[in-house]
This record gives sequence, C-alpha cells and structure tokens, in this order.
Amino acid sequence: MGARLLGGATAAVLVFGGLGAIGAAAAPKGPGPRYTAGAAGAGDAYFPFAGNGGYDVQHYDLDLDYTPPAPAPAPLEGRLDGTATIDLVATQDLDRFNLDLRGMEVESLTVNGKTAAAVAPPMAGAEVDGAAYWHVQDDDARVWELTVQPRPKLKAGQRATVVIQYGGVTTQPEDIEEALYGWVTTRDGAMVASEPDGSMTWYPVSDHQTDKASYSFAITVPEGKVAVANGIQPKPEETADGLTTWYWDAPDAQASYLTTASVGDFELRETRYSSSGVPIIDAVDLDLAPNRLATTNASLARQADMIDFFENRFGPYPFTAYGSIVDDDDIGYALETQTRPIYSTQAGEGTVAHELAHQWFGDAVSPERWQDIWLNEGWATYAGWMWTEEAGGRTAQQSFNAWYAPARTPAYWQLQIGDPGPMGLFATQVYNRGAGTLHALRVEVGDEAFFEGTRLWLERYDDSAATADDFRAVYEEVSGEDLDEFFETWLYDQVKPPADWVQP
Ligand code: ARG
Ligand code: ZN
Repeated sequence: MGARLLGGATAAVLVFGGLGAIGAAAAPKGPGPRYTAGAAGAGDAYFPFAGNGGYDVQHYDLDLDYTPPAPAPAPLEGRLDGTATIDLVATQDLDRFNLDLRGMEVESLTVNGKTAAAVAPPMAGAEVDGAAYWHVQDDDARVWELTVQPRPKLKAGQRATVVIQYGGVTTQPEDIEEALYGWVTTRDGAMVASEPDGSMTWYPVSDHQTDKASYSFAITVPEGKVAVANGIQPKPEETADGLTTWYWDAPDAQASYLTTASVGDFELRETRYSSSGVPIIDAVDLDLAPNRLATTNASLARQADMIDFFENRFGPYPFTAYGSIVDDDDIGYALETQTRPIYSTQAGEGTVAHELAHQWFGDAVSPERWQDIWLNEGWATYAGWMWTEEAGGRTAQQSFNAWYAPARTPAYWQLQIGDPGPMGLFATQVYNRGAGTLHALRVEVGDEAFFEGTRLWLERYDDSAATADDFRAVYEEVSGEDLDEFFETWLYDQVKPPADWVQP
C-alpha cells in the first residue's frame, strides 16, 4: 500500500488569505445573464481543487516537445514544452473559469483566438480588465489553479477553444512523502502515470474523472526515442532534423488520470488482435532484465485470451484499442491508463489481468468520487481472481476463502474501504476487501443476478462516472433484494464481516 501524500488532501481550508481569486465569486445582482466564476474544484471531498466547474471539456489536443535528461551524472531533469488546444462547452454563464496546471509556466493563452494577458492574481472579489489569465501555484497549500478570464464572456452552452502554450523542467519528486506520479522523469524518457490528480503536472486540464474527453497527441522526442500514448496511431511517426514526432488518437471518452504519453527506449511491437478484433499495441522497454522480459512476453501473449474471457463475462471491450507499456524504470506500481496500461520493470500475468479488467471497471465506468476507489480496485482484483480460475488455478471462491481465513489485526478491519481517505486510496484493504465484497455479493444474489447486474452497471454508466450508491441500486434492481445492510457490513463496518459468504 502507498500511504504517501497525494494531491490536495489538506487544501480545503486554504481558499482564503494570500492566494488571491482562485474560487467562485458571488453572482452579480440584476437581470440578464449572471456571469460568474466557475468553481475551482469538481467537488471531490478528497481533492477539493482537482477538476473545475462551469464547463465541460470535449477534447484535448496535446502537442508536446520533450527532451529527456542527459546521461548520468547529469541531473535527472527533462524539458517539456507543450501547446494544449482545449475544446470546451460552458455549462453556466462564465465570467472566469479555471484549469489545473502544476509545476509548468504558461507562456501564452488564447480563448477563441483572442489573446489573454498574463496578470498577477487579483485579490478575491477584485475586477480585472479585459481577457486575462493568472496562475496560482502554492505547493505548501497544494493549490494549482490557472484562472482564465475570457472576453467576451462565455454564455452557457457556448463552445470555446482555449490554446495554451506552456513549458517547464520535469523531475522526479525528491520528497519521499510525494508518490511517484504524474510526469515522472526517467533517465531514458518519462513514465507518465497520473492517478489520481497528476495530469496537471504535464498539461492544463480539468483534472477529475467527472469531466471525460477525447484526446489527440503529437509528441516530439529525440530521434530513437518512442512516445506512446492512449489509443491508436492515426498516421506513422515522422522524423526530421534528429527529432521524431509520434501521433496518437484516443477517441473514446477518457478520464484525465488515465491519460499517458510515456517516452522511452521502447520497442513498439506489431499489432495483434483479440478474437473480437481489438487491436493490441504493446511497447516494451529494450532494457528490461532478461528474466523480466521473459515474464513480460509470456503475460502479454495472454492479453487476447484475457480480452475474450472478460468480454464473455462483462460485455464488449469498451474502447478502440488495447496494449501495454512496459518500462524498465520503477514507479512502484502499474496503472490502468486507458487502452494502454503501464507497468514498472515487468508485467506479471496477474497484474496484466488486473489492468485489463480496469478498462471496464475504472476506465469505462469511473468512480464519481475518489471515495469510491474500491469500485476500481476491488473489481480489478476480483477479475484477477476470476482469471486465475479460468487459467486453471484457484477458483474465485477459493481466493475469497484464502483471503478471509487468516487472522488479521484490528487495524486491517478498521479501514472503511467505502471511505478510505485520500491517503488510503491504494491501501491493500481497498483491493482485497474490495474483491471480497464483490465475491460476497455474488454469493448473496447468485451468479445470474450478479452477472446481469454487472452488465447493467457497465452499460448504464459507460463513458461516465458513478458512485457506490448507484452500484448498490443496480444490484437491488436485478436481485429484488435490499442490499443496504450488505454494503454497510462490507464497506463500512470496522470489523471482520461474518463468515456467511465462505463456501467450500
Ligand atoms: N490503480 C493502480 C492499480 O492498478 C494503482 C495506482 C497506485 N498509485 C499510487 N500512487 N500508489 O492498482
Ligand atoms: Zn488496480
């Protein structure tokens, strides 16, 4: 488990004092449209400043230039310069709105072609003349907010295109309190893994899964480096003057934390296909240790079979492509980046099944609040139990029994997986008690209702986000049972659930 500091947890109290105008101002009085500031956060209690309000992003076009670090002993620092073209629709009459951007400097910003002036953050409530932007970055307060004041103002329903040129030096966080996430600079490139709120370290974004969008990428790197993002290559890479530009298109609705644009000494492998026709595009680091490469190759060879198996249980694979990025660098975990998970040092078979299952659980249907993380990690872990059974190992019931049997500390059972706190997002209990919850639910309602509910859940909330209450409602609907007490026991009771769901 990673009990390390993740973004934003303590920032709620810091809206006032010193930071200037980063939040919503009071609505002006009088008739006519009431142009107000969009909220500085998406309303997630765990990360109050992640995401923003007042608009809905349709598409991010990211044009990135990246120079990886020079060989050791040069500092482990890269240089990233980007142009982000963001298509959005205002969802209220907007005087101002925010984007999240951390550790990068904005060089220019336009809204619908009109240049905005860089200004110092005004005092809360103060007026600013004309089209303008300001950027508040307070690492101690964990507040990173880029405020855009468009002129003319945006009416609700109006589309706008925001073009932001920005750049900065990229590093690996030195603070061991800080999880290795976001644009993680490596000696041979970058390992880009942004859960939960690290996308703001590499592009201006509404960094919350309640605002999904499609993406396109053009990533320019030194010739010989390979840049791999989500989706498919719409056209081949182009090389000129020692630089190669890699193009990727991700047309499916995608949460910001599932975006990647990793750079390294990868071998981009020939596309293979699942039997349902999903293209599988893998990128494997050429510097993987030989035994780890063998493990990786064996696991990746099973991806098509895993897609078949999960499609059979859960319904169609939800996106236009799949494939894995396997980096020899180590961030300590793998991540289910959409259509293209990323792995540290090797890809083991269990982990490959886990990250693939996340494409349905987490990626296609995302947790509406970070509090609902067990819906991601419980499901991916449970799907791993199912794959183990399919592959001839323990049955899912045996995995449940094996998890349930051992005596554990009171502290283990104290963690409420339905509300683990921002520091507990990736606690082992979220994974294993989460999987136990799903298996117990299956035993409780029976296989038929369980899989019917699962498909209904995936269909109803495809390309969006939902909560644990939405989840409960689906299984109550298909089973006709009241599951309130069941979920109370499994998600919130701070003791070991009774043995009712253990079976031979
Ligand atoms: N969601 C990832 C998984 O598949 C884990 C992410 C862990 N992140 C972290 N910062 N420790 O399990
Ligand atoms: Zn996971």
